[in-house]
Amino acid sequence: MTKRTVHAQAGKKDLLDIATLSRAEVERLLTSAALLKEKQRCGIPHPLLSGKTLGLLFQKPSTRTRVSFEAGMNQLGGHALVLPMGEIQLSRGESVADTARVLSCYLDAIVIRTYDHAIVEEWAREATMPVINGLTDLSHPCQALSDLLTIREKKGRLKGIKIAYIGDGNNVANSLIEAAAKMGMVIALGCPAAYQLEQHIVDRARVEAKKTGAMIESSQDPHIAVKDADVIYTDVWISMGREREHARRLKVLAPYQVNRRLLHCAKPDAIVMHCLPAHRGEEISAEVLDGPQSVIIDQAENRLHMQKAILTNLLGNRSRTKR
Ligand code: CP
Ligand code: NVA
Repeated sequence: MTKRTVHAQAGKKDLLDIATLSRAEVERLLTSAALLKEKQRCGIPHPLLSGKTLGLLFQKPSTRTRVSFEAGMNQLGGHALVLPMGEIQLSRGESVADTARVLSCYLDAIVIRTYDHAIVEEWAREATMPVINGLTDLSHPCQALSDLLTIREKKGRLKGIKIAYIGDGNNVANSLIEAAAKMGMVIALGCPAAYQLEQHIVDRARVEAKKTGAMIESSQDPHIAVKDADVIYTDVWISMGREREHARRLKVLAPYQVNRRLLHCAKPDAIVMHCLPAHRGEEISAEVLDGPQSVIIDQAENRLHMQKAILTNLLGNRSRTKR
């Protein structure tokens, strides 16, 4: 029996990318996150994952993703275990395959933040527990899912809402376009030629958009991209792992700063989003990031509620898989 068959039988489901979720699954995650948020706010206990253990393996720094998964797991009555990279045998050359198979005996799921997307795919192939992508160089699906929650809360709906993504066509942008396409939104990309999104992701999103009525626009002029936008979204110009390109990126991306002048081209009630961490004075001016249209703290809070929805979706009613 192949590993895939074993996984399918066990009902194992990974979260590696938005594209692997159906629209109905995204809807369910949004509903569940909103409900869990309400329970948390009202102080209603919700120990849905009592007795479950989540592993967190991060090869890059993280504040929001790591802490929201850890706190979220605790709020769900489970336990989260941070696995410091330098303290496990993976750092001394033990294979991903062996590590994934062994950790599957102890843990109920694992969140992985790493560089090459192929690494989380390998984890997903080898582990018998669900594997959650906590960010790779290619994508950041948990971020995009919680961003949908924030947009829906602020704008009352997703379908037809125009989101303009400005700046570096990076992992956050890749997941955002997939999420927007899935939910029938209008997404306008305003990125320079040198830093466009991954072509295969854009192509896949265009196929999805045909099914959902989403619209995907692209312009190298950020002013055109933000015209009539309901949401302006940006992210750092130098993602983790791109530090050597620092000088060139600052130069090429300088015209793509989200500032007051750019904000004026959007709808008057447009909201400003940033996944954080932010670099004030680079991809966004301080006055916009800290201004009245910015929703960055609510956006960061929603990471917690969406992680809990993801965890209950992947782990609820699931017994530990046998090899
Ligand atoms: N937005 C986000 O993923 O933040 P962290 O890098 O702090 O996890
Ligand atoms: N694009 C950024 C996102 C950080 C949450 C990075 O990969 O560093």
